[in-house]
Amino acid sequence: MTQIRSSHTAARRRPGVLGVHSLDHFSLTVPDLEQARVFYAAFGLQARPRGNTLELYTEGHPQCWAVLTEGKRKQLHHLSFGAYADDLDLFRARLDRMGIERIDPPGGTASNGIWFRDCDGTPIEIKAAEKSSPDAKSQLDLTPSPASTRNAPMRGTTAPVRPRRLAHTLLFARDVPRSTKFYTEVLGLGLSDGAADVVAFLHGVHGSDHHMVAFVKSEAPGYHHSSWDMRSIHDIGQGAMDMAGQGYTRGWGLGRHVLGSNYFHYVQDPWGSFAEYSGDIDYMPVDGEWQAQMHSPDNSFYLWGPNPPDYFTVNTEAA
Ligand SMILES: [Fe+2]
Repeated sequence: MTQIRSSHTAARRRPGVLGVHSLDHFSLTVPDLEQARVFYAAFGLQARPRGNTLELYTEGHPQCWAVLTEGKRKQLHHLSFGAYADDLDLFRARLDRMGIERIDPPGGTASNGIWFRDCDGTPIEIKAAEKSSPDAKSQLDLTPSPASTRNAPMRGTTAPVRPRRLAHTLLFARDVPRSTKFYTEVLGLGLSDGAADVVAFLHGVHGSDHHMVAFVKSEAPGYHHSSWDMRSIHDIGQGAMDMAGQGYTRGWGLGRHVLGSNYFHYVQDPWGSFAEYSGDIDYMPVDGEWQAQMHSPDNSFYLWGPNPPDYFTVNTEAA
């Protein structure tokens, strides 16, 4: 936690490059806010009612990572990106230059940010905000125990797992190269890696994880999963087992991705999308260079783990 807090005071920027620095929060409509509160609390998040919304926090961190409102069905509502305050006029000028129409904030959303739609019609906000993406690679706790000492706790005596922060969201997109072009040229994200026209991973240019947003091809836009940074592989496995014990048995993991390198376990939420326990994802430093590459989907989806279930890539928002 100390390392995460220090990242707030050490925020830096890549000189001369206009880009958002963080995925400030994502927003969904869901059919039942109480069902959402129970799911995300079981997952280890702090789910706090606020007015007619539910906000998701991680323990000890001030950032609101997600805002949920009640609607007829689960649907991606909007994405909000954080930028440095003195970049907002530059973003306004860029949007004007590109002929991108502004929109009012979606109903009920309090905001003084810049609003427009992405190439799939999803409302997007750019607002002045504190940098919530990390300024250094999140550390994975692999502390060995001294010799002659048992490292594992007794079963049943472990504390519930607590994700440290939002890591990224993966969205369905009708045309992945088109979405990649929009998010790199308009929001200033950087392409990290991709696989054919099927998937693309984008990072923040002012220092972020390997991806803060990713896209996977589908017949309609939508929300596939949110990913949450965990402090250890133990916590990923423990979280998955605790969720299964509370009835959330559907998901995928334990495994390791190739693109991003993170260890993962996905838990299916009540609406057919997922929340991902993630650890040890690659990091793109503010002063580093990364050569974006395109890869074969077969060789880059996951390194090891069980085969994904057939429901893993179903876009319930396409119905
Ligand atoms: Fe993910």
